[in-house]
Amino acid sequence: MISFSHVYKTYPGPVHALMNVALEVQKGEFLFLTGPSGSGKTTLFRMLSAFDKPTSGIVQVAGYNLGKLTFDQVPKYRRHIGVVFQDFRLLKGKTVYENVALPLQIMGGRFTQIKKTVSEMLDQVGLKFKYDQRIEQLSGGEQQRVAIARALVHRPELLIADEPTGNLDSDMSREIVNLFEKANAQGTTVVIATHDSELVKRMGKRVLTLKGGNLSENLSLENRSQP
Ligand SMILES: Nc1ncnc2c1ncn2[C@@H]1O[C@H](COP(=O)(O)OP(=O)(O)O)[C@@H](O)[C@H]1O
Ligand SMILES: [Mg+2]
Repeated sequence: MISFSHVYKTYPGPVHALMNVALEVQKGEFLFLTGPSGSGKTTLFRMLSAFDKPTSGIVQVAGYNLGKLTFDQVPKYRRHIGVVFQDFRLLKGKTVYENVALPLQIMGGRFTQIKKTVSEMLDQVGLKFKYDQRIEQLSGGEQQRVAIARALVHRPELLIADEPTGNLDSDMSREIVNLFEKANAQGTTVVIATHDSELVKRMGKRVLTLKGGNLSENLSLENRSQP
């Protein structure tokens, strides 16, 4: 599903945000990306979501070579993925419903089907009764759940979420992670960037760590759940 080979990303400065990153993720995996602030997590997600291209190296996702993606191919590629941004990027002035329906409208769904799918999704994130509220009327945690609903509503092949539980209390975090697990059980590959070491430990999934742009894998099995 995901393949990085010799991936470098250098910002002007120069800042070496990613250095010789290699990564293979199979379809259906659920993994965490950890690392201190400034270690390159968001940069790696910008590569995965085709918001930016690597300076060198190859990034392949769902059969697309993202470094070579043309302007026209970007929206087509994005239909395969769901993204929860660290800063949500919701449409202000629009309602909860309008925000969550957007990916389905872009894909050309029928009105009645969209309505049904969005209602079910909002129910799952506990926002069913807020569907007609505007984004700015919601708390930070509620906005985060809207962002998660929007990322999952079109049942993407790959979900990437940048600090998705950052603004949530522990009960709500658990519910959100349950949603990710449910999507994963239905076949979505899930990659979550997080600082929450408790969450990572509890889940017992594959863990990748970035440090100063270098990616390493936590190969210790001690915190992986036993079958
Ligand atoms: N657009 C940019 N221009 C220049 N430097 C950047 C840009 N985005 C990120 N960086 C730098 O790249 C490094 C990695 O940042 P980032 O990927 O945001 O890390 P993280 O998400 O792990 O906190 C940091 O040193 C950051 O300052
Ligand atoms: Mg970040």
